[in-house]
Amino acid sequence: MKFNEGMLREGALKDKNILVTGGGTGLGRSMGEYFLKLGANVVISSRKLDVLEATAKDMADKNGGKVIPLACDVREIEQVEAMWEKAKSELGEIHVVLNNAAGNFISPTERLSANAFNTVLDIVLKGTSQVTLTAGKDWIARKRPGTFLNIVTTYAWTGSGYVVPSAAAKAGVLAMTRSLAVEWAKYGIRSNAIAPGPFPTEGAWSRLLPGDLVKKFDPAKKVPVGRVGEHQELANLAAYLVSDFSAYVNGEVITIDGGEWLKGAGEFNNLDQIPSELWDMMEVSRGKKH
Ligand code: HXC
Ligand code: NAP
Repeated sequence: MKFNEGMLREGALKDKNILVTGGGTGLGRSMGEYFLKLGANVVISSRKLDVLEATAKDMADKNGGKVIPLACDVREIEQVEAMWEKAKSELGEIHVVLNNAAGNFISPTERLSANAFNTVLDIVLKGTSQVTLTAGKDWIARKRPGTFLNIVTTYAWTGSGYVVPSAAAKAGVLAMTRSLAVEWAKYGIRSNAIAPGPFPTEGAWSRLLPGDLVKKFDPAKKVPVGRVGEHQELANLAAYLVSDFSAYVNGEVITIDGGEWLKGAGEFNNLDQIPSELWDMMEVSRGKKH
């Protein structure tokens, strides 16, 4: 068995209809494709219909099952509501919403225009809240259970310079996840989140490590387990959290980052740069014989 193999049993998501925002590319695509393999029907949604259509075709050709591509800018409530109704009319019901769509880029904060800051806030926080409100109100009104899974980041709780709009927005999404986990549990609606560390995608790498930065700031070097994440590892966790196997998990945020954020947090963690000869010398100087 390998860490990058599919984990759940065949048919684990049979009879589930799952909406994945930002599902045409990157991690959303990888998670959606694994849901499909496990028997789910999937709606993938984002702004670019041509990308969604090509992805949907490719996913369905490879795995069978239904993949419905629906264009929707999550910043526009009318588009979100229309997408939700269309998703239901295509599949009959939506049981799970994976809030994965995001926008991000690096910049010193003082260089950002108001529009730049708002653009990221609007996609990540307002977009997620609009999709959540639309789905949640509808599930509640029709007395249907539902499951939310929200993709945040580890800097949702630590904060991070140079991606401040994203950090502020993801912190909001995390607070919303935990708040609704309690408030909407009485309606049979669960809310959880995943905080991924670095997982290579075109979308993230081109915006967060543009040009030569990827050579200067190799993300794998910051991760205690010594590598970046593989998409299947994230897909395994996401599939568990949207499946009925996780029925008692509610209000949780699960970090999947190889220990990256804790490495930055622990006061003395950078002492891993001390070579063993230097530790030997320090032992000798405090009187230990070698
Ligand atoms: C400063 C920038 C900028 C940059 C855009 N802007 N890019 N400012 N640095 N690199 C400014 C623009 O000048 C403009 O402000 C405003 O932001 C809106 O830009 P538009 O291009 O008009 O916006 P839009 O077309 O809506 O595109 C949204 C976007 C874009 C966020 C700017 O990058 C996008 O579509 N991203 C979607 C995918 C994505 O970001 N994926 C990565 C997620 S990774 P002015 O004032 O000029 O009008 C992620 C991982 C985190 O979240 C953790 C990793 C470990
Ligand atoms: P990605 O491929 O760029 O995914 C972002 C998706 O969001 C795209 O499919 C994009 O599609 C969609 N999107 C952007 N703006 C939108 C809008 N206004 N309305 C609807 N959809 C919109 O990047 P990714 O790395 O896979 O990121 C996926 C998620 O993982 C994000 O939530 C990100 O914050 C999170 N994450 C990623 C990493 C990582 O290392 N990759 C780490 C931590 C967290 P369109 O352009 O077609 O709209």
